[in-house]
Amino acid sequence: MQRTISFADKPTLHGTNVLLRPVQASDVAASLEPDHEADRLTGTHPTPGGLSVEQRQDWYATRADHADRLDLAVIDQATGLYAGEVVLNELDDDNQSCNFRICLFYSRNRNRGLGTEATRLILAHAFETVGLHRVDLEVYEFNPRARRVYEKVGFVYEGTKRQALRWDGEWIDAHVMSILAEEWAVHRGYPEAPAS
Ligand SMILES: CC(C)(COP(=O)(O)OP(=O)(O)OC[C@H]1O[C@@H](n2cnc3c(N)ncnc32)[C@H](O)[C@@H]1OP(=O)(O)O)[C@@H](O)C(=O)NCCC(=O)NCCS
Repeated sequence: MQRTISFADKPTLHGTNVLLRPVQASDVAASLEPDHEADRLTGTHPTPGGLSVEQRQDWYATRADHADRLDLAVIDQATGLYAGEVVLNELDDDNQSCNFRICLFYSRNRNRGLGTEATRLILAHAFETVGLHRVDLEVYEFNPRARRVYEKVGFVYEGTKRQALRWDGEWIDAHVMSILAEEWAVHRGYPEAPAS
């Protein structure tokens, strides 16, 4: 069936401090060191054996073949290096919606504004180019930084999935947030800007 909404186009999006471009196999080399903080904050449980480097390279190399998701590498323009990734996935063509996720690897890439800028860039693409109606996400209770970023760009809290994650023996709530095209059209990622 012909899709009306598609991520077949894999764009390069230029910002001020970050550039987003399609992921590629060589990006895997930039995230080989363990990042336990990122694992925890994204709720990524260790899997027995895990993926081999070759399997991860193959995953990145084949993302261009998938019209139902968009995986972009976040490049720090100051260094030209891979800092992490932003993803639009779980595309629901009938309802013009998808899920959003982001991960910047290692503390050197965090708390410098890169995540906020990358999120605004990919949302602009989602609403203004792809034509999505809704983008949603989940953020864990123990991740107030991510929640702050999402609020800053206009995601609105919808509700809580109680005790959705078990981490180190504790149950953690997951908060659901979303942003709609009509909201984006009003503030374009700056809902807190003072009215002029
Ligand atoms: C979440 C993430 C994408 C945010 O990107 P970032 O570049 O680190 O964040 P930014 O520097 O753009 O913005 C951080 C904001 O959170 C605020 N912040 C930082 N720590 C905070 C905390 N503990 N509580 C509340 N707010 C916090 C900062 O002050 C800033 O807000 P401000 O601009 O209003 O001052 C990034 O840190 C990341 O990838 N973390 C690891 C994986 C992860 O958490 N992914 C998201 C899963 S839902």
